[in-house]
Amino acid sequence: MKPALIVHGGAWDIPDEAVEACNAGCHRALTAGWSHLARGGSALDAVEVAIMVLEDDPVFDAGYGSHLTLDGRVECDAIIMNGATLRSGAAATLQRVKNPIQLARKILESCPHMMLVAEGAERFAKENGIKLCKPEELVSEAEQEAWMKCKVDKHAAEHHRGHEQGTVGAVAIDRNGHLFAATSTGGTCCKLPGRVGDSPLIGCGCYADYEAGGVSCTGYGEAIMKIVMAKTAVDLLRRPATCVDPSQAADNCNLSTADLAAREAIHLLGKRTHATGGLILLDRLGNPAFAFNTPRMAYGYVAPDGSFITSV
Ligand code: GLY
Repeated sequence: MKPALIVHGGAWDIPDEAVEACNAGCHRALTAGWSHLARGGSALDAVEVAIMVLEDDPVFDAGYGSHLTLDGRVECDAIIMNGATLRSGAAATLQRVKNPIQLARKILESCPHMMLVAEGAERFAKENGIKLCKPEELVSEAEQEAWMKCKVDKHAAEHHRGHEQGTVGAVAIDRNGHLFAATSTGGTCCKLPGRVGDSPLIGCGCYADYEAGGVSCTGYGEAIMKIVMAKTAVDLLRRPATCVDPSQAADNCNLSTADLAAREAIHLLGKRTHATGGLILLDRLGNPAFAFNTPRMAYGYVAPDGSFITSV
């Protein structure tokens, strides 16, 4: 089977001055993931390395440079899902794991459970060879400054380069037809300590079923959870999609099932929750699609000719 890869760096009001960094970050993530897939490597390795690149890049809200909680700490969530077994590995409210996606993978592969949180998750990380970092090593200068502004003024998106929430994600299919989806986030800025959004929740921020496709979401977690958006989008891939947004019907009806599924899921998010967000997906044949109802979303995918397409 022809491998496929799509990534995102969050759907938000990305300011002009961050566009280049977002494009470059998505390109680096594609390069890292594709270096595995192109030489016959696994989709699991591809989504893990792609997300690690995005987690390490402070322009994105995941890993280093995540938004801070009300208490001024980073708390990260992540998930990886296997489309063949329907098993996921997820971790939430991590304060001392530099690359949360590595722990999600470890849970997927080596834990009897599918989700661990807080100290228990970090203990599992340590026991399984993932070195813990100091909480302050995840705090970027920009987010520290943003948090200080929110403290002295009031919490406002403009203090956070225009975004309330970010999130990164990747979906890949390898030569053997194995499908994996993954999502990682620092969550929303100034969130209450202990808050968990959609990202690490199976079916909400991420879902993969090799019979239909794989999805990674971004946006306002409390709304995405309401419509179980990733599973909703995957289910829309199971049938020829119909146009649910009458105002867009003329455009929508010429689109592929993959494009329609992405658009319908985002349409549903707006219609039923009045919230904003985005998603990326691969259908079971590796066709990429994306949709968002925010001003911009950072994303990238590998085109059929092997070239990298990135956009913001
Ligand atoms: N979508 C990220 C969050 O709400 O935590």
